[in-house]
Amino acid sequence: MKIANLLFSAAALASLTACSAPAPDAGDTAKSGGCCAKDAPAGKAHHVGKKLPEFKNADFYKDGKFNEDAAKDAVITLMKFYHHPVRTDTKAKLWVSDYGTGKFTEVGLAAIMVENEERDRYMIQALFLLPGQMLPEHWHEKPAGDAPAKMEGWYILGGYTYAVAEGEDNLAKFPEIKIPASHPAQPKARHALKLTPGEWGKLNKQLEHHWQIAGPQGAVMIEVANLHTNSCVKHLVPAINAHFLK
Ligand SMILES: [Fe+2]
Repeated sequence: MKIANLLFSAAALASLTACSAPAPDAGDTAKSGGCCAKDAPAGKAHHVGKKLPEFKNADFYKDGKFNEDAAKDAVITLMKFYHHPVRTDTKAKLWVSDYGTGKFTEVGLAAIMVENEERDRYMIQALFLLPGQMLPEHWHEKPAGDAPAKMEGWYILGGYTYAVAEGEDNLAKFPEIKIPASHPAQPKARHALKLTPGEWGKLNKQLEHHWQIAGPQGAVMIEVANLHTNSCVKHLVPAINAHFLK
C-alpha cells in the first residue's frame, strides 16, 4: 500500500514522530506575511532538479564548540531552498541544537516556535532537518496538573522525512535509514513511515517513543500539538537527555 493511501488511516498513522525542540516564551509569536520568495509562484516547486549545498559537520564547530550562528545560516539556506518564508527576524527566532553530540549534520534539529498556548492547549511550530539529519528518539511525559502528555502531528512542506514510532518493526524495508553512531542507542521505536510534501502523520498514543530522519535533501514541516513542555521531553540516549535539559 502506498504511503499516500495511508494518510487518513488511523492505523497507518499510528507510528510517527514528535519534536523535542524547546518552547520559547508563549508570546514569541511569528506574524504572517513577508515571504522573500518572490520568484516562487504558488504551486510550483522550483527546487525540483536542484540540490542543496553539501553541509559538512566541520562547518558547524568553532574551537570544538557548536556554532549556532553557522547552523542557523544553514537552516536558512534550507528554508529558502523550499521557499519557506524568511523574514528579517527569522534567524533570531530559530532554535538549533546538535543535542550535544558534536555531529550536527547527523543528529540535530532546528525549529521556530510559532505558538505554545498553555491556556487553550495548542502548539504550532516549524521544524527543519538538514539532509540525513536525525531527530533523536524521545517521548513526552505528562506535565503536572490536568494537562495530558503531548500529542503531535506533522504536515510536510518540503523534502521528506522518515517518521518512526512504535509498532511493527519495518525498518528493514527502509535500508536507506542509517542510525548515526552519534545516536548511540538502538531505537525502540522501529515502525517507519516516509512522509513527503502534503502528507500528514501523527502520534498514535501518549508516551509513544518517536524519532525522525530526513531524506537526502532535508525536510521542512509544520508540527501541531496540544502543548509542549520542555521538562517533559525524555530522550532515549541519556547524554542527549542531559544536554537537552541543562
Ligand atoms: Fe516529540
